[in-house]
Amino acid sequence: MSSSLGTVVIGGGTGFIGTALCNSLKKRGYDILIVSRKPGLWRTTWSEINNTGLPESTTAVVNLAGQNLLDPLRRWTEGFKQNVWASRVNTTRYLAQAIESAKVKPKVFVTTSGVGFYPPGKEEVFDENGPGGDFDFLSKLCADWEAAANLSPDSGVRTVKIRTGVVLGRQGGMVQQLYFPFFCGVGGPVGHGSQPMPWIHINDIVGLFIHAIESESISGVMNGVAPQIISNKDFANAFGKALWRPSFIPLPTFAVNMLFSEERGKIMTEGQKVTPKKALETGYTFKYPDITLAAKEFSKLIYVDEV
Ligand SMILES: NC(=O)c1ccc[n+]([C@@H]2O[C@H](COP(=O)([O-])OP(=O)(O)OC[C@H]3O[C@@H](n4cnc5c(N)ncnc54)[C@H](OP(=O)(O)O)[C@@H]3O)[C@@H](O)[C@H]2O)c1
Repeated sequence: MSSSLGTVVIGGGTGFIGTALCNSLKKRGYDILIVSRKPGLWRTTWSEINNTGLPESTTAVVNLAGQNLLDPLRRWTEGFKQNVWASRVNTTRYLAQAIESAKVKPKVFVTTSGVGFYPPGKEEVFDENGPGGDFDFLSKLCADWEAAANLSPDSGVRTVKIRTGVVLGRQGGMVQQLYFPFFCGVGGPVGHGSQPMPWIHINDIVGLFIHAIESESISGVMNGVAPQIISNKDFANAFGKALWRPSFIPLPTFAVNMLFSEERGKIMTEGQKVTPKKALETGYTFKYPDITLAAKEFSKLIYVDEV
């Protein structure tokens, strides 16, 4: 398993973002090793990584593992919250430990966290220096998740933590869950829809992970959102228009709170205004900078993946 670009070890590489990232990295010439709960081809397990460490060819380590927190079939119990936390923080810690104990170190460790780090609101726009990480379950989770990626200063490994917004793409996440109602013309905003919705197209979040892996000048936190700040209603309008369907039937806030509980329903009923300052300053060019363009791509009836 060797190539000129080396191996990227990816926790959660089987998921929505992970699959797209693996495909893109393979096309660029990297070898991939996915860390998963289930063994398989081109995969290793978390216990194997703990026991045998990273392959010597590892050039980058990425973590995208995490229990789906918007699973409507799972009640928001203390036990489920513990799973949500451990599946992100512990997996990040395992990879950090594997990096610390590797004889041949990778160049970079790229992890994810969420824009839920920042306080929700319609006034302030947050860049990477914005406050947060200390006010509710999701913001504290982001802070713990990011802290788990800290390496000892003498490790010599660059670390990038991407605070990701709602990832929009046909193969998973929010668009996959909403495609059917929007296609049937019964989609619409959540509540009044004026809450901000920090978002990014799947191809751009993949692009940002690769940007973080390959740009030696990037380290620390980087916001993983599109430059255009939109509301939840703007998203619903763009999605409806791209499908040539009406999109004005709101999903009432109380229904979201009943289905998901108020604490996690906040991901849909509230939102932050977030800007990708570091991505733009370090020369990343967004393929989908505005929601109209993005919606046209993820709404296509006959869908061919670009990544
Ligand atoms: N999608 C978004 O809009 C979005 C926004 C912000 C942040 N994020 C974060 O980005 C990461 C990737 O998102 P995604 O949409 O690609 O997620 P996803 O499709 O749900 O995939 C996540 C992967 O995590 C692994 N996983 C699930 N439950 C786990 C558990 N209990 N313990 C350990 N591993 C577990 C699974 O891999 P195996 O089955 O192979 O173990 C799964 O393929 C997540 O941490 C998510 O919170 C996503």
